[in-house]
Amino acid sequence: MQISTTLSTETVDDARLAEILANPGFGIHFTDHMFTVEWTPEKGWHDARITPYGPLSLDPATAVLHYAQETFEGMKAYRREDGSVWTFRPEANAARMARSSQRLAFPELPVDDFVAAVDALVQVDERWVPDGEGEKSLYIRPFMIATETFLGVRPSQHVTFMVIASPAGAYFKGGIKPVSLWLTEEYTRAGRGGMGAAKTGGNYASSLVAQQEATANGCDQVVFLDVAEGKYVEELGGMNMYFVFKDGSIVTPATGTILEGITRSSIIQIADGLGHQVTERRFSIDEWRDGITSGDIVEIFACGTAAVITPVGALKWDGGEVGAPASQELTMRIRQALVDVQYGRAEDSFGWMHHVV
Ligand code: PLP
Ligand code: COI
Repeated sequence: MQISTTLSTETVDDARLAEILANPGFGIHFTDHMFTVEWTPEKGWHDARITPYGPLSLDPATAVLHYAQETFEGMKAYRREDGSVWTFRPEANAARMARSSQRLAFPELPVDDFVAAVDALVQVDERWVPDGEGEKSLYIRPFMIATETFLGVRPSQHVTFMVIASPAGAYFKGGIKPVSLWLTEEYTRAGRGGMGAAKTGGNYASSLVAQQEATANGCDQVVFLDVAEGKYVEELGGMNMYFVFKDGSIVTPATGTILEGITRSSIIQIADGLGHQVTERRFSIDEWRDGITSGDIVEIFACGTAAVITPVGALKWDGGEVGAPASQELTMRIRQALVDVQYGRAEDSFGWMHHVV
């Protein structure tokens, strides 16, 4: 893929950038440039370019605005103490986007092109990568949208893939403290044959009202159950889940209708290295309630790129509540092992890190 570059003449000045990077928040500020490549059946992927960051001009009849044919990814670039910048398992994000693309009837962007696009943007906007202090990073958002101007319902014949980036601090305000969860019994996220395993905007649109219900009930995040029986734990709106038992064994809900989290799959390997076996299986909400009450479940945590690994506290539902698990010890140990690899403070024994600058 040949990438042309048009540099911005209105980049953010150093003083303003320092101010932003001191307190970046999440998803608020965007870097000086963006990456774009287009696809049509005749030309395939073409016209790859880095241009100044700015608004898109879209016809009101652009397909994505009506039928939500879109997929996206979430990943981060980390700055090490020596100043170098690295991404974490970018090929895994590329492969997941290819799987999401299949589900959304999109053409696939080759893994190498995805990684090259992310590298090109991070390289041109390198000064936007915060230092690693306070676990800051550059959050990267690749996405693919249906850009044909057409109101018929069929796969778009014009597709646009873009990458934007945004410096990020902690996803949850107030640092690492247990998140409280609301169990929604009314709303589900994904059914068999649906889009649950794809990273597509519709799944997040459908989660919003459940998240509102969680907030109204004083909880931080919402937990979804399976659609068929309303009995098995799936995931949170933007994170996968883990349960740690008294005997040291760990369970995480099996894939199928959940997002195949890259943090989730990395944790399986880290936990194994720490001598803890992880079983991927169906995990019922009753097992959760009973395990907390009996003390068999000692830790629960959630994980994702944006939120990293975060301990889970109390679970509430309409008419009941169970308290927080007793410990966060293994959660914090796994978390430390993961971020140490990401920031280059520990040996990258799995070959996860990709050098960008
Ligand atoms: N589940 C959902 C619904 C998500 O949006 C995310 C975030 O990307 C995850 C799980 C965690 O996935 P990953 O670890 O790849 O970020
Ligand atoms: C991520 O963790 O990257 C996510 O996509 C979660 C959320 C910001 C949508």
